[in-house]
Amino acid sequence: MKIPRTTVDVGQEELEAVKRVFERGQFVKGPECEALEKEFATYQGTKYGAAVNSGTSALHLSLLAIGIQSGDEIITVPNTFAATVNAIIMAGGRPKFVDINPHTYTMDATQLESAITPKTKAIIPVHLYGLMADMKPIREIADKHDLYVIEDACQAHGAKYFGKKAGYHGDLAAFSFFPTKNMTVAGDGGIVLSNNEELITKIKALRDHGRMMGKHVFAGLNNRLSEIFAAIGRINLKKLDEHNEHRRKIANIYSKHLSEIQDIEIPIEPKGYYHVYHLYTIKTSNRDELRTFLKNNNIETGIMYDTCLDELDYIKKLNDDDKSRLDNCKNIKSKILSLPISGKLEQPTIENVCKKIKTFHQHVSP
Ligand SMILES: Cc1ncc(COP(=O)(O)O)c(C=O)c1O
Repeated sequence: MKIPRTTVDVGQEELEAVKRVFERGQFVKGPECEALEKEFATYQGTKYGAAVNSGTSALHLSLLAIGIQSGDEIITVPNTFAATVNAIIMAGGRPKFVDINPHTYTMDATQLESAITPKTKAIIPVHLYGLMADMKPIREIADKHDLYVIEDACQAHGAKYFGKKAGYHGDLAAFSFFPTKNMTVAGDGGIVLSNNEELITKIKALRDHGRMMGKHVFAGLNNRLSEIFAAIGRINLKKLDEHNEHRRKIANIYSKHLSEIQDIEIPIEPKGYYHVYHLYTIKTSNRDELRTFLKNNNIETGIMYDTCLDELDYIKKLNDDDKSRLDNCKNIKSKILSLPISGKLEQPTIENVCKKIKTFHQHVSP
């Protein structure tokens, strides 16, 4: 059973949106991107948006917009998709790592201050698996040390932290619209949100060869989003709440069944948080055996992420900090397993996955 992870429909509305763009004949820098920027910023509760061609570009341009200089340090976590750290390096920065909370899998804010040096420019908390990082202390520490906060919200469309969505606490928030994300444009895409008009204006110029009002004012890139993708994204955005609620229902079914199993730690949703379950990730000591068992039963699972990024050679070269401080990251990587989830999977499919996991555990620990 190959489990579809995308939630995009090939419906009448989507096809008409594509037709509308073709008929207009404007495939970049047009009204669909502008509308998506306004609609998604409003949805997330921020003032401004700049649509770009991927979540990676959203992070990269955010770092360029804050004026990162060669050798500036950016603090983040090692258990994230490589894009978070690649964006830092490609912008000329040096990654510094802090450990995570072993139960929420997001940045441990209590470690943050000890990682700050005179070279620190910004903090990138990652809202992992659909759960936001603990933003209040992160913001407070950033303010105390005069640092920027760029939220990596690529997995957190619609997630909430004490009633506020990503983009509220950060100076900038970067989202991905990749096909497997909670919201997609049916291709590569992304957006940066902010309440800071100046930063968003700069990002809009950076994504378009450094052009402002038709004039080239600084060096930039071509990181623009296609109008076709933006048109599809606008439709997918209308379905986002429904898809997130569906993900939460699936998560409830998993949690109800799997909490009975001693060797499994289910994901938590701390009080005040609204988890959107981009991934439903469990921790279990027999991870590899369970994964093989599920694969043999045609159930695909994922490991996000089996590498702590500080261990990769090209990153190690830039960061020689004491790695013992990253113990929680190291300890979880052999235990985490992401089970099938999407905005569309049906209840019987999930019940079947739970049944198989129970069978596995009866077998290994009768
Ligand atoms: C946490 C995180 N950051 C950044 C990215 C990069 O987004 P994209 O693939 O759209 O470039 C992703 C996408 O997988 C992600 O999950």
